[in-house]
Amino acid sequence: MDKLTLAPATYLYPAPVVVVSCGVGERANLITLAWAANVCAEPPQLAVAVRPTRHSHRLISETGGFVVNLPAAGNLGAVDFCGTFSGRDVDKWAETHLTPVPSERVEPPRIGEFPVSIECALRHTLPLGSHDLFVAEVLAVHVARDVTGEDGRVNPERLKSVVYGHGRAYYDLGETLGQAYQARRKGDGR
Ligand SMILES: Cc1cc2nc3c(=O)[nH]c(=O)nc-3n(C[C@H](O)[C@H](O)[C@H](O)COP(=O)(O)O)c2cc1C
Repeated sequence: MDKLTLAPATYLYPAPVVVVSCGVGERANLITLAWAANVCAEPPQLAVAVRPTRHSHRLISETGGFVVNLPAAGNLGAVDFCGTFSGRDVDKWAETHLTPVPSERVEPPRIGEFPVSIECALRHTLPLGSHDLFVAEVLAVHVARDVTGEDGRVNPERLKSVVYGHGRAYYDLGETLGQAYQARRKGDGR
């Protein structure tokens, strides 16, 4: 395989795209993030990387809780809006016609129109350079019934997830290529 060697940069692809709700009451805000990941199973934790200059960075730090909302393809307009404008200048809830729904375990509201909302409590803030990493524990998860399967878990084909690629565009997940953990069952796994 003929390969180019590129300058060091953030090439991990694809990235999920999420909209985090943060802040409380009149100050509640929305921010689109692509740098987000599951990082621990027990206790369940995820991490998001946020520039300290973002309005939302301050809200997350002050409130200590936030909600990671997963969009479906139909929410793309709101996703892009929340990643383009700052809550310092606009009310993103009003502009995107999204509905703040009270959360159960954290102060910031979740997004009524997004199919998955993950309530999180901030546990660690790790300054990395351009971004701070917020590591948070998952306290509650809300999933729209029509994106779950018979097993009660999220069905990716029904969710119609959105991913973000190389600082450029949004994509859907395309086709299912195969079931996971088949190699292990055949005895040639890890
Ligand atoms: C697709 C997409 C992904 C983004 N990912 C991040 C991210 O991971 N971290 C971050 O700090 N900003 C990210 N941004 C930029 C913020 O969403 C943007 O600066 C936003 O306007 C900040 O809002 P706020 O000032 O109300 O907090 C992303 C923007 C887009 C469109």
